[in-house]
Amino acid sequence: MSSKPKILIVDDEPRMCKSLELILSRHNYQIETANNVKSAIDNISHKPFDLILTDIVMDDSDGFQVMDHINRHNIDTVVVMMTGYASTDTAVEALRKGAYDYIRKPFETEEVINTIENALSQRRLLAKQKEAEEELRESEQRFRTLVETIPHGIQEIDTDGKITFANPAHHKIWGYSEAEFKDKTIYDLAISDEAGKELREYIKYLVTDQPEPTPWFGQDRKKDGQIIDVQVDWNYKKDKDDKVVGFISIISDITERKKTERLLNEARAGLEREVEERTADLRKANEQLIRSERLAATGQLAASIAHEINSPLQAINVLLGSMGKQYRDDAHLTENIDILKQASGNIRDTVRSLQDLNRPGTELKQPANINEIIRQTATLARNLLKRNRIGIQLDLSDAVPNIQLSPQQMYQVILNLINNSIESMTGQPDLQNRTNREEYLRKEIRIASKIESDHIHVIVSDTGPGIPDKDIQYIFDPFFTSKKKMGLGVGLSNCYGIVEEHNGTIVAENNSDGGAVITITLPV
Ligand SMILES: Nc1ncnc2c1ncn2[C@@H]1O[C@H](COP(=O)(O)OP(=O)(O)O)[C@@H](O)[C@H]1O
Ligand SMILES: [Mg+2]
Repeated sequence: MSSKPKILIVDDEPRMCKSLELILSRHNYQIETANNVKSAIDNISHKPFDLILTDIVMDDSDGFQVMDHINRHNIDTVVVMMTGYASTDTAVEALRKGAYDYIRKPFETEEVINTIENALSQRRLLAKQKEAEEELRESEQRFRTLVETIPHGIQEIDTDGKITFANPAHHKIWGYSEAEFKDKTIYDLAISDEAGKELREYIKYLVTDQPEPTPWFGQDRKKDGQIIDVQVDWNYKKDKDDKVVGFISIISDITERKKTERLLNEARAGLEREVEERTADLRKANEQLIRSERLAATGQLAASIAHEINSPLQAINVLLGSMGKQYRDDAHLTENIDILKQASGNIRDTVRSLQDLNRPGTELKQPANINEIIRQTATLARNLLKRNRIGIQLDLSDAVPNIQLSPQQMYQVILNLINNSIESMTGQPDLQNRTNREEYLRKEIRIASKIESDHIHVIVSDTGPGIPDKDIQYIFDPFFTSKKKMGLGVGLSNCYGIVEEHNGTIVAENNSDGGAVITITLPV
């Protein structure tokens, strides 16, 4: 209705038409005229008019026919009727048929203009309203489509948690049909009564405190019992007085995402664990390397010292032998010579163990059974054990197979371990550290063998005082001893060298009761 409003005047009196045209043209209207109903309808059908001013009673017909035509064809215009008859019936009829107003002939110019202006402004209002309605319809349509096709659940609940609206995706998440949702509250979807109660408390808190909305992450139970992880992005639903009447939420099923996250975390933890294990292995291997290098160096040194001592010792021995023969009759001298002989014997023993340090790798490895070697060594040590009133208990597994080993060297290892245990139990009893005095008094060495996958374990344990924590990392070092002048400190480093030569490991610890436990592991 921009520019000039178009008006069609319908009257069978040409004079009337003319004078109306004159008046109205002056008022910035665009005017057309028709002298009968037929020509009026013809006009209306071909051109749009903002307003039609029609006489009711005409010679051949009446203005209602124009009205009928407009109604029938849904023509967008406004009609004002004119009548010379002041009958209320006609007026009522005109309004009933949808005319905006009617004017009675004869009329004042002002009256016509006023009526026309009112009619036009009402038409403008109606057009605006129609436009707004159309916009509303469009936006409603847009939101409906969104809500129905979005793959996220959309839900409205009231402050009691009752679900008042849910879209198709929402039904799909929980597996309930629309009808089944009818009487449900969000608490019915919780995984347990406890969780439902908690959620109820939370909603209550939101209604009273109204904090800033933040996404809610939690778990719910589907109709088939399956538990799902959900993310709920929500906001308050308020009435026109700004009172909270419920919540509008967008719900996403994040079960898969959570699962992937969990798997990733597990994988990460596994990796970390593996790296830790590998690092520990490496550290151990490194320590072993350092130890065996040290052992090799010490062994070479010890062997050269032993060699240097051996020749003069040999001479001393020969000389002592001949002196012994020569002064056989001198009792005093003979006694002294015997003392010297014994001392030289001690030196020889020391020199031997020094030589042992230099990896006695001469003996060929052969298939042998470690159980047999343990038994024989135990028999060998029988007297020594008896003298010290120490029991020995063998617990050997028949499943232990023969392996490639050097029997002579293994005797040495087992004997060394037995000796150490004996020495630890014949020292000063330290009863304070003992929880069980009886147990301590029962001096015993236990040697067990067992097979575990592709390894043989030989475990030598005793009921002695054990190895002090501060010493445990040094006991395999050459010349480490806690026995003051009594020990040379090469026994365990020897054992270490031999076991290493058999591709095995030897470790020391204390058992829960305090005694030492030495474990040898050999590959099958
Ligand atoms: N069964 C054991 N109980 C307590 N301590 C032990 C045992 N075996 C070894 N040890 C400790 O390890 C040290 C080193 O032993 P070893 O190398 O045989 O040298 P030595 O016996 O000459 O001292 C010993 O001095 C002792 O402190
Ligand atoms: Mg020893």
